[in-house]
Amino acid sequence: MTEFDETLWSEREYAQEYRDHADHYIQERDMLFKVLVSFYRQFIGIGQAKRMLDLGCGDGAIANQILRVDDSVNLTLMDGSKDMLDAARLRFWQFPKLQYVLATFEALIGRENSLPTFDFIASAFAIHHLSWSSKIGLFEQIYAYLNEGGAFLNIDTVFPNNPSYTDWYYEFWREWIIDRQTRLELKEAFDHVPNRARTNPENKLDPLQNQLDALTRIGFKDVECHYKLGIFAIFGGRK
Ligand SMILES: C[S@@+](CC[C@H](N)C(=O)[O-])C[C@H]1O[C@@H](n2cnc3c(N)ncnc32)[C@H](O)[C@@H]1O
Repeated sequence: MTEFDETLWSEREYAQEYRDHADHYIQERDMLFKVLVSFYRQFIGIGQAKRMLDLGCGDGAIANQILRVDDSVNLTLMDGSKDMLDAARLRFWQFPKLQYVLATFEALIGRENSLPTFDFIASAFAIHHLSWSSKIGLFEQIYAYLNEGGAFLNIDTVFPNNPSYTDWYYEFWREWIIDRQTRLELKEAFDHVPNRARTNPENKLDPLQNQLDALTRIGFKDVECHYKLGIFAIFGGRK
């Protein structure tokens, strides 16, 4: 039994619920993907057959965005959940060359898996599940697995640098969900999600600046936050 097996993500229904409804409760998910794809065009390049890792891939939300613009990409999807990887396999049946790795971040930190190196490592809404020391351990491994000139991009939830904004950010998120579900006349309500996320001990958010500083200390260059809205951020660096 690994640490991951004790988390909600190892439960089939929990993982399925996320796959079904993430668009309804991730604030401005479309915009997050636009930033991802634009970054990819600018710094990785279309049609270059670059090696990419989708870390904590779930059913492949990031991979899907990249494959839509670049089917030359040499893509590896990694997750600790077999259900999530199976869902990704099903989703990408028409891309037989994709590689799937069933492994936890803890295993990656402990160097239990041997992976190739990558030109681009991207992750969405997965790394915030790690404690601070494990985040550092994972960032170090990400750096180690990047080729020179490669890039890391993390789409994730973060705490503000100044905690006096935290309550408002969660409330702002809730307002966004209500606005969207009203506009789309959704039959199901999702406005409980911010509070559920905030009180779930598996979500171990850390302040954005601490994470940027950690990346810099590890050796990443050009460390930057490219997008931020409330607790939702996109940040990373290059090697
Ligand atoms: C919120 S989902 C995000 C999935 C996908 N990246 C997306 O944006 O739709 C978080 C994913 O991280 C994975 N995950 C969480 N903790 C993990 C760990 N310690 N090791 C490996 N995967 C983990 C879960 O299995 C899940 O697929």
